[in-house]
Formats: sequence, C-alpha cells, structure tokens
Amino acid sequence: MRSTPAIEVIPTGAALGGELRGIDLRSVDDESFRAIYRAWLDHAVVLVRDQHLSDTDLIAFSRRFGTLDHAPIQENGRRFVDGHPEIYVVSNVVENGVAIGSLGAGEAVWHTDMSYLPDPPKASALYALEVPTHGGDTYFCTMYGAWNALPEDLRARAATLRVKHDGTYNSGGYVRAGITPTDDPRTAPGTLHPLVCVHPESGRPHLYLGRRRNAWLEGLALDESNALLDRIWEAATADSLTWRHHWRAGDLVLWDNRCVMHRRDAFDPGTRRVMHRTQIKG
Ligand code: SIN
Repeated sequence: MRSTPAIEVIPTGAALGGELRGIDLRSVDDESFRAIYRAWLDHAVVLVRDQHLSDTDLIAFSRRFGTLDHAPIQENGRRFVDGHPEIYVVSNVVENGVAIGSLGAGEAVWHTDMSYLPDPPKASALYALEVPTHGGDTYFCTMYGAWNALPEDLRARAATLRVKHDGTYNSGGYVRAGITPTDDPRTAPGTLHPLVCVHPESGRPHLYLGRRRNAWLEGLALDESNALLDRIWEAATADSLTWRHHWRAGDLVLWDNRCVMHRRDAFDPGTRRVMHRTQIKG
C-alpha cells in the first residue's frame, strides 16, 4: 500500500489564506485531495508554490472541485487558451497586435468573479506562468470577516437587502464586449443577490458584495443606496481583513469565490504577466 505524504498547511498569519506544502498538483490522490479541500474551506484561499502545470493538469486538478465554467466575457471578448475554453487568460501581453488575455496591466479593483451572473463559480484557481518582479500583487479579503466587522446597525440593515451585481464593467474598469454601458445600476445588466449569505458548506454568514461600481441596493433611492454601500465597503475592505500575495511563476492560488473578494495592483506594462485561471462551479 502506498502511503500519502502529509500535506503541511501553514496559515499566512493574515485574516485568511494558507500555504500548502508537500504537494504536486499533477498527482493528487483522494486522501490528499480531501486535505486540500478541507484547508481551502478553512482558510478560504490556499497557495501552492513551485508547481509545473500544463493546461491539461490545471483543468484536471480544478475538475476535482466541480464542473468548470467557460472564461468570462471581458473587454476583448473571451480570452481563453486555444482548445480549452475553460482556461481564462489574464494577461497584458499583446502578440501580433492581439491581446492574448484580459485586464491589461492596470489595477483590478475588489471583486468576486462573475457575480453578475445568477450562478457564479464557487471557486477560482489562478496559476502564474510569467510574472513581473515588481507589482501585480493580488490581495484577498475575507467576507466572513467583513460580516463580523460590520457595526450592529449596518448588520441588521444588510441582512434584509439584496444588492445588484453589475455586469457592465469588469474589475479592470473596462466595458464587457457586447454591452452598451450605462451608469444607472438599476437598469444595467446584472443580477440581484442577497447582501448577506450563509456559506453552503461552512454554514457561516458572510457578505456578498461583488463590485462597488454600479452596485445598487434593491428598493433604495440611488443616493441612499450609495451612502449605505460606501459605509459597508469601507468596513468590509479594511486592511486587517486582507492578505496580500506576491507571485512567483509556478504559484497556484485557489480561492473560495463565495466568501472571498480579490483585487490586483497595477504593474509596469512593459513587463510580461501571464496567468491562467479556471472557474469552478458547485
Ligand atoms: C482575477 O482573477 O481577477 C485576476 C487577478 C490577478 O490578475 O491577479
């Protein structure tokens, strides 16, 4: 009988996140997978360094968690790997005048992946192929912590509300291909979700905010909605609720897209950053 080497889980020391050591994601047996899944639920984001994944390996590992969604429609349509519509390319690289990926080299603001859809992915796995030495760090924010951090009056109010998640703009601030932009969130394309959700696996309450831009609290006048959202967002994205990751090529980061938001720093557009991402459904 083959014995499975123990996976080490090292918490980041921040409000969320853990690094997993002692794994090759190309060959994960059932016992190791259970340990990875448990760590991912417990820490909400897991980092695994020094991996050597082909696109097929990334898809195979991601499929252990659930079925895969296709790449989202971004400013330049769907940017995916040829033959693998499940692998979304996040990159600033332009080849022969064509962007190979989306989001460019600018900041990507806080967001939840694809929350403008009725059934967003439960998880995203982002694998670093090429990264700049400086810039392009990705930050993660716990939405469990955000719920806990809300002042009592805001909690009572938030628990009764649904929020419109806008589908017009992506996190880079670009208009998604095929959308006619509007800055009225009441009529913009998107989906209403409860502002406070209970995580289906952990049973813990968390905020579900999506993106700030073009968000709207159903039933409220825009001014009132904006004032309330500003207060909630300020509490929800406090530095104490976040973890910052500085990438190395070969890093795989997997986050729970239900209870985590993420954002990315800008980086020098003259450098190359190439990341492949999968979106995993429940
Ligand atoms: C994303 O998945 O939103 C991109 C994050 C990043 O580029 O680090």
